[in-house]
Amino acid sequence: MKIDVFFTPLGLAAGDLGGRGVVVIDVLRATTTVVTALANGAKAVIPAATSEEAVRLASNLEKDGVLLAGERKSLKIEGFALGNSPREMTPATVAGKTIVLATTNGTPALVAAQGGDPVLVGAPVNFRALTARAHEVVAGRRDLVIICAGREKQFAIEDAYTAGRLVKGVKKGVRKVELNDAARAAVALTRQFATWQEALENSEAARQLADVDLGDDVAFAAKADRFGVVPLYANRQIT
Ligand code: MLT
Repeated sequence: MKIDVFFTPLGLAAGDLGGRGVVVIDVLRATTTVVTALANGAKAVIPAATSEEAVRLASNLEKDGVLLAGERKSLKIEGFALGNSPREMTPATVAGKTIVLATTNGTPALVAAQGGDPVLVGAPVNFRALTARAHEVVAGRRDLVIICAGREKQFAIEDAYTAGRLVKGVKKGVRKVELNDAARAAVALTRQFATWQEALENSEAARQLADVDLGDDVAFAAKADRFGVVPLYANRQIT
């Protein structure tokens, strides 16, 4: 049985995910935002690969029940109701709503993860619950693929660090787990930082968010185990 990490979705080939459990991670910020929205009562999140696709998907839904959300260069997309900040996903804003979300790296990674079973969505904010759920997959002798969204088609340290901590947690007590090289590198990376906060703050994504006055999102994302939900992506929507 194997645990494979992909540092970006680029290396995924058709058929790589069939019959395997999948976890998608985009700590800054898409999966943190998805987890927060669902924990705060959103009905569903529909990830879109592009902003145009988000508009098209939203137009097929009941107008009152849908919110368009997303970012480009970390800032809200013009004409959309919300950006991609987890701090915007308050119960007052999202309860009962379906959110159609388009982000630069995170939602394309989610779309690319279709085909896994189950496809779980995670971040430090739901880390304990995510680890327990992913552990069940591996303890059931099923392969697990951890897909990091990365950043602009490149490695992102906060996603890789989270993947490493997840690999360590998931394989605990399970015999004969084979790791790919990326999974082993991710585990090694966990020794570089003492805390979630340190790992997230040392990322390029955190610097970009600070540049546009969204540095508080980094502190939000670094507070582990805020939520006990583990969103599941199936049939084109995350619930
Ligand atoms: C993304 O999906 O690219 C991100 O989460 C970027 C961001 O929100 O700043």
